Amino acid sequence: MKLTKLVAALPDEKSFSSARPYFNHAVEFKSIFSAAERAKMLEQVGFNVFFFPSEMITGCDLLSDSGTTTMTNEQWAALHLGDEAYGSNKGYFLLKEQIKATFGEKFFNEHTANLQNAFIFHQGRACENALFSVLGKLGPGLIIPSNGHFDTTHANIEANKIAALNLFSHELKDEDSNSHFKGNMDIVRFKELLKTRHKNIPVAFLTLTNNTGGGQPVSMENIKEVSKISKSYDVPLFFDACRFVENAWFIQQYEPGYKSKSIKAIIREMFSYVDGFTISFKKDGLVNMGGGLFLKNDGLFVKKYPKIPDALTNYQIVKEGHPSYGGLSGRSIMTLAAGLKIVTREEYITHRINQVLDFGNIMKKKGIPVLTPIGGHAVYLDVNRFFSDTLMKAEDFGGIGLTALLLAAYGHRACELGYFAFGQYDKLNGKEILPEVNFVRFAIPRLRYEKQDLDSTAEAVKILYEQREKIPKAKVVYGRELPLRHFKARFEMK
Ligand SMILES: Cc1ncc(COP(=O)(O)O)c(C=O)c1O
Repeated sequence: MKLTKLVAALPDEKSFSSARPYFNHAVEFKSIFSAAERAKMLEQVGFNVFFFPSEMITGCDLLSDSGTTTMTNEQWAALHLGDEAYGSNKGYFLLKEQIKATFGEKFFNEHTANLQNAFIFHQGRACENALFSVLGKLGPGLIIPSNGHFDTTHANIEANKIAALNLFSHELKDEDSNSHFKGNMDIVRFKELLKTRHKNIPVAFLTLTNNTGGGQPVSMENIKEVSKISKSYDVPLFFDACRFVENAWFIQQYEPGYKSKSIKAIIREMFSYVDGFTISFKKDGLVNMGGGLFLKNDGLFVKKYPKIPDALTNYQIVKEGHPSYGGLSGRSIMTLAAGLKIVTREEYITHRINQVLDFGNIMKKKGIPVLTPIGGHAVYLDVNRFFSDTLMKAEDFGGIGLTALLLAAYGHRACELGYFAFGQYDKLNGKEILPEVNFVRFAIPRLRYEKQDLDSTAEAVKILYEQREKIPKAKVVYGRELPLRHFKARFEMK
């Protein structure tokens, strides 16, 4: 009997729990801290989990998937080959070729071309500030709509006196909806807005995946439709492309016609519909630091605003560095070029998303109310449903108490992204202006944790869910009225 025949008759390895597509090359042991020590430290930092020393985290640190990637062997090797020349370092040319291969030829001109259309920044928010500060100078009354602006994007737009508008899909809040693309832009509201205000819209944005909107993906159909409508009103369209590969995976899995297309081909199609994009490479760039702003060299944006690329170059030189390194060291550029090669591999992205889905489904099976379908980079716990049968009120910020107790008792760190993070305190009437969504986010760092780690987080959340009556209410003792208050505030537990 031939071995190949025997093998073919056995169940396929993908039909049961398969091994990870990578193995550990190096490991780091955690420090040991007790729950009592963590609780004491939380009191010292005013129960703001951002200020909690990461060294004391004995469970999973799910505060963010941004910049928390474990780099691969190839990336560490590339780091050592970093060229720290001031002008036109070796990594810059590798990155240029990799950006063109990943997103399309038109997003990175030769460095000697008159039109600079690729801008390297140290992270996503620096790109946002560059873009919105030059757009803000176009005049008053501008609006930038999106399917959901991320908090720093929102803040950077408004800091430049432009109104940031979120047009979340109505399906996002519809628990009965089975849509796989709850991150979509609300097309009806987008059309209405453009009909009356298109002259005030310098650019429209689609965030892939929609981080503020539960990490939900955007369909190719929605991208195409938004692009068509924008074009018809002469409004350029940009992606906030931080999680472009994760978004492409959902299109491949769930959108009719894409099952047999490769992730790489889907990405190319997605980017064919936009005139530019901002990106934090700390997500799907698989690096710990890095960002970029890219303009399509024959897109509507550069045609409509021919002076803006030069204004961006001036901004970059003054605030970050020469265009050939921007805000990054030569070695960081090398790790980014290597990271972008890995992230589009089918086995990487399939494992990555399945890990997040598995974690979300385990939470769901335990009865914990999480947003479904589960998104690509994080599991979002619905705080309102979590506390629905308790005395917790909106102004008690249940998500803050939950994250504090989870960290103190079990050593897992998550992040409140809800009534406190996105809400605002109205000083005039002493009331909170509540946002549409109220989540605690468990963001999964890339290539960092194993199933056993995440199972332990789910178990810890379940224990707290069963004892939800005991979760303390939060009293804000500092920073309630400040912008971006969740990064700075201090609390007491009632
Ligand atoms: C959708 C989105 N846009 C922009 C940013 C900002 O990127 P950075 O943290 O690199 O400044 C983030 C960061 O988490 C994000 O998730």
